[in-house]
Amino acid sequence: MAADRRTRAAAVPDLDWDALRVAAREAMTHAYAPYSQFPVGVAGLVDDGRVVTGCNVENASYGLGLCAECGMVSDLARTGGGRLVAVACVGGDGRPLMPCGRCRQLLWEHGGAEMLIETVSLGIVPMREVLPDAFGPDDLVAAAERPSGQGREHRSEERARSGAPRGSEPVIR
Ligand code: THU
Repeated sequence: MAADRRTRAAAVPDLDWDALRVAAREAMTHAYAPYSQFPVGVAGLVDDGRVVTGCNVENASYGLGLCAECGMVSDLARTGGGRLVAVACVGGDGRPLMPCGRCRQLLWEHGGAEMLIETVSLGIVPMREVLPDAFGPDDLVAAAERPSGQGREHRSEERARSGAPRGSEPVIR
């Protein structure tokens, strides 16, 4: 297992994982987690070289708490969008923390199957290893393009014709 972990990490030579971890730890210091006392920070490298970050922000109405990854994807959109290439998430001790299931879905939306994620037990792996057989934007596009199309026939052609801006697809009503 340890050798396997080294092999995977060595396959990612160009990314500065230490810088990502440092950014995640810095973000974690801004967490608002008075209810769980469980601060989380996350940092993501974007395909244009930006680094976006987030921390968890809880709420007295407990279920409304925002995971750190929510803040990070908001930061991603706010600062120009793009695709996440690599993500490091840390807990209060500064060590790697696995994104929860919901947040893996958030990361999938903005990074896809090949986005690299630092895990607790597998080392650095692509998202497809921690969210296998994932549901994602492609499933909606594929459904819209099927003849039955669930009432959304030809949507993708409509989008293409209208010159819809990047990030506007798919349209769900
Ligand atoms: N948390 C995150 O921010 N990200 C995760 O992926 C796991 C959990 C936060 C939510 C809550 O504020 C605290 O950790 C305890 O669950």
